[in-house]
Amino acid sequence: MNRILLIMFCALFAVGLQAQDVIVPISTKSNLMLLHPSREGRLNTVYFGEPLQNEAEYKDVASQFNLRDNNAGIYNAAYTSAGTWNLVEPAIEVVQSDGNTSLELKYVSHTQEKTDDNAMLTVINLEDALYQFEVKLFYKAWTDENVIEQWTEIEHNQKKAVVLKKFASANLFFTGNDFYLTTYGNEWAKEMQRNEEKLTRGIKSIDSKLGTRAYLLQSPNFILSLDNEAAENTGTVVLGQLAWSSNFRYDFEIDSHDNLRFIAGINPFASEYTLQPGETFKTPSLVYVVSHKGTGEASRNLHSWARDYRVLDGNGERLTLLNNWEATYFDFDENKITALFKDAKSLGVDLFLLDDGWFANKYPRNSDNAGLGDWQENKAKLPNGIGHLVSEATKEGIKFGIWIEPEMVNPKSELYENHLDWVIRQPERPEKYFRNQLVLDLSNPEVQDFVFGIVDKLFTDSPELAFIKWDCNSVIYNAHSAYLEKKNIPQTHLYIEYTKGLYKVMERVREKYPEVPIMMCSGGGGRGDYELFKYFTEFWPSDDTDPLERVFMQWNYSYFFPSIVTDCHVTDWSKLPLKYRVDVASMGKLGFDIVAHELNEKDLQFAQEAVQNYNSFKDVVWHGDLYRLVNPYENNFAALMYVSKDKSRAVVFNYLVNFRYMETASRLPVKFAGLDGNKKYTVKELNVYPGARSRIDSTKTYSGDFLMKVGVNPNMSQRNASVILEVNEVK
Ligand code: DGJ
Repeated sequence: MNRILLIMFCALFAVGLQAQDVIVPISTKSNLMLLHPSREGRLNTVYFGEPLQNEAEYKDVASQFNLRDNNAGIYNAAYTSAGTWNLVEPAIEVVQSDGNTSLELKYVSHTQEKTDDNAMLTVINLEDALYQFEVKLFYKAWTDENVIEQWTEIEHNQKKAVVLKKFASANLFFTGNDFYLTTYGNEWAKEMQRNEEKLTRGIKSIDSKLGTRAYLLQSPNFILSLDNEAAENTGTVVLGQLAWSSNFRYDFEIDSHDNLRFIAGINPFASEYTLQPGETFKTPSLVYVVSHKGTGEASRNLHSWARDYRVLDGNGERLTLLNNWEATYFDFDENKITALFKDAKSLGVDLFLLDDGWFANKYPRNSDNAGLGDWQENKAKLPNGIGHLVSEATKEGIKFGIWIEPEMVNPKSELYENHLDWVIRQPERPEKYFRNQLVLDLSNPEVQDFVFGIVDKLFTDSPELAFIKWDCNSVIYNAHSAYLEKKNIPQTHLYIEYTKGLYKVMERVREKYPEVPIMMCSGGGGRGDYELFKYFTEFWPSDDTDPLERVFMQWNYSYFFPSIVTDCHVTDWSKLPLKYRVDVASMGKLGFDIVAHELNEKDLQFAQEAVQNYNSFKDVVWHGDLYRLVNPYENNFAALMYVSKDKSRAVVFNYLVNFRYMETASRLPVKFAGLDGNKKYTVKELNVYPGARSRIDSTKTYSGDFLMKVGVNPNMSQRNASVILEVNEVK
């Protein structure tokens, strides 16, 4: 047994311990949360902050915390229930099997066990004394990374079903003077635009109701900063996301005493859940990292956690690629595609990715209004099939990957004609399309089989297939499932059952194909969560590949995701020089979406050298620690730096973001970070455009101390608007 049971408080009252003597610490290296049952047995949050040195003093915290739990509006419950005397926003709201709407959860017991050297799982049992209704609160705390994953399991043993009206994953409570919230959202090709505000009394809710492509308008990523606005190197921040690939809701409620309650979970919108006796309802996880030293430390820790514990093959390698989407859109055939293999080869990337438009015959996929769902190769475009493309790519010395959008259907398709009952739609109402398509009903096991079968067939036919881009372009309109209706399951289960169905499919895909890299894409950045990252190796942050806008977007995503999962492609979206476009894409996982053989000689030479350079430093970008040095929202340039874990190598990316006439970036040097002050380093400019001369002296040696206190001036100008610097230890 590799799990060591540390503390077991089962049958607590039997051994004579009173509930108010119990204190439950959720602790990591730099943070401590203390939970404590009141005299009445209601579990409260009594501390959230830097660790206390003396464990013996934990028990004294509650007595100093003079929040009496019978005062309306200052309720610090660890999981707030509705229907008795609580009058603040609840975490859970139910209709008991007899129609009664009250729930009173009391502490019963808890267990804490180490799941490995670095993680502790705490499970707290809460029960209602009147109704057979039980809630288990789960807290998995990763010590070194200060990451907490929090979820809830709900069960009952009443004779008939109970209706769950609200069922949050987490209910956090903070005291403090001021709270600042940063959230992100906007629209297609404008994803992850940040919005920072000071929270004021009342409730600020953030949510999605889109079902699939759920983050199109609002991302679940958040930064909560205590006392002051979020800063990179100072202050307490809580930074994270609900790991749920569908509708979510966050409520940030500031009470009349200026305390903050944060409730996060599946959006209860149209989602009442009928829970049968003995059934367990498991919520998704709220994943968050806490730092008392600002967002820099927080995101470095979250990145490490993601690579070590969550993202599929998070510490592995990734494939650079050439994608045909923006080069051809739907207008291609076998010759055009095989010609692009030569481009991939000439650029030096690892893989060619064939995007949308390769399938369907009765309703050929020549635009986005037909064919989705009919996953046979289009005979006119690809007479020799995918297998032929794979072997041609192999001959060229590159790998081959393919785009699919298996959860969706065009009404103009054989799938729609044959399986109308698989489509999410209101049977008696007009259909409403998003990008000319509808969503398949993944709550239906037959649809799950169909979706799995698409992937399975591709690999069975072409075992050398090396990459999948899994797209999802539509939201759910007219939410109605013929399957749930047939099974007498309430329609309000649809959003949840759909999402669980998606996870079931991904489980099966990964059971059979554990390693192949799969990109999560959703009409740009409509998906990107730490539940799906159990199955996906990377994601497509946005269709917006304008490099100037990407500097800001990648900056914002960098708080939440390590660059190894952030796919960044060079396209023709902008008139900015190829160098700027390549330099910006090199900050993530590099790809191209251009016609390389149409590049002029110098641009092609530059791109080829840039791929080689990328290969030389990608290990640092993918697996190193990120330091955000200069914020583009506050300066006329951005600077970000990746440092290898052993501090022997680093890469610094500098991008001018203001192209006003005569603008120069900075007359001051950029101070580096994360190096070893006692080591010696050289600094060399990479990706220098053919014929240009670098203004960085690569022969000079600097101490880490100098580089971090004085720094180096990247010497950017309008003509040299991006500068990549490689920092190498001199041994
Ligand atoms: C939306 C994606 O974001 C694009 O990259 C591309 O794959 C298209 N779908 C294809 O339809």
